[in-house]
Amino acid sequence: MPEKRKVTLPVLRNRKRNNKKISWLTAYDFATARFADEAGIDMILVGDSGGMTMMGKPSTISVTMEDMIMFTTSVVKGSDHCFIIGDLPFMSYQISDEEAVRNSGRLMALGCDAVKLEGGKVMASRITAISNAGIPVVSHLGLTPQSLSQLGGYRIQGKSLTSFKKLLTDILAVEKAGAVFHLLECVPEEVTQEIYRHVKNPLYGIGSGRHVDGQLVISHDMLGLFVGDVDPKFVKKYADLSSTIKEAFRKYKSDIEDNKFPEKKHLYSIDGEDLAKIKEYSDKFSAD
Ligand code: KIV
Repeated sequence: MPEKRKVTLPVLRNRKRNNKKISWLTAYDFATARFADEAGIDMILVGDSGGMTMMGKPSTISVTMEDMIMFTTSVVKGSDHCFIIGDLPFMSYQISDEEAVRNSGRLMALGCDAVKLEGGKVMASRITAISNAGIPVVSHLGLTPQSLSQLGGYRIQGKSLTSFKKLLTDILAVEKAGAVFHLLECVPEEVTQEIYRHVKNPLYGIGSGRHVDGQLVISHDMLGLFVGDVDPKFVKKYADLSSTIKEAFRKYKSDIEDNKFPEKKHLYSIDGEDLAKIKEYSDKFSAD
């Protein structure tokens, strides 16, 4: 039976202590959040990836707070039990601690349980400022899509000693600054395992192997719903919904053209006496 009590930070910490992995998915709309909740998924990330999955943007760079507010409002309505993390979009937290706190507060006011931001040591003061406002912050390290241009594209991170040292320094800095847990994206499994040895708080992964406290994937990727060129190797496809949807749309179109839809069972009707009156009126009706 899926767990039905609300997932909170103490629940997540307890799960780590008991070596019980957590499941984490992205959602951007009411229905997906409801399905995730009913399936017993532990956490939902209202990711800025919604700019790509839902809005067809080429990257997350142009996603705005207003976009995130729309996604978040819908998700919060759909989920009663999942721990919901609101993603801070590009330029909503980079400029100053004040803006970071204000925008985090806007997501929390919608009903999020935490906010997520990308970046390591350089984000330490932001993380402390947001935490001091009473808001749990999740750090996102490794491949950070808001810095895609700086990273030179979707590339695996942490492959050299220099890169490992930077990752370790960054994660320890954000943990010290107050990050309640961490997300590591696209890091080789062996490197993640070494990072894991040094952090105290839960460490979750997306494309970073098995030695973590839980997994995140983008729901559109695992459902076979993503429209675009990004097709990460780490995603397991649990469904092929784009084919299912296209097949349904084709069948609908051909049913209409072949007069197979609507059928009798799809029709509304009225009782015979009313119909007789309408017909009589209609027969005598003249527009002028
Ligand atoms: O927005 C998002 O979905 C994310 C994941 C790629 C980690 O930040």
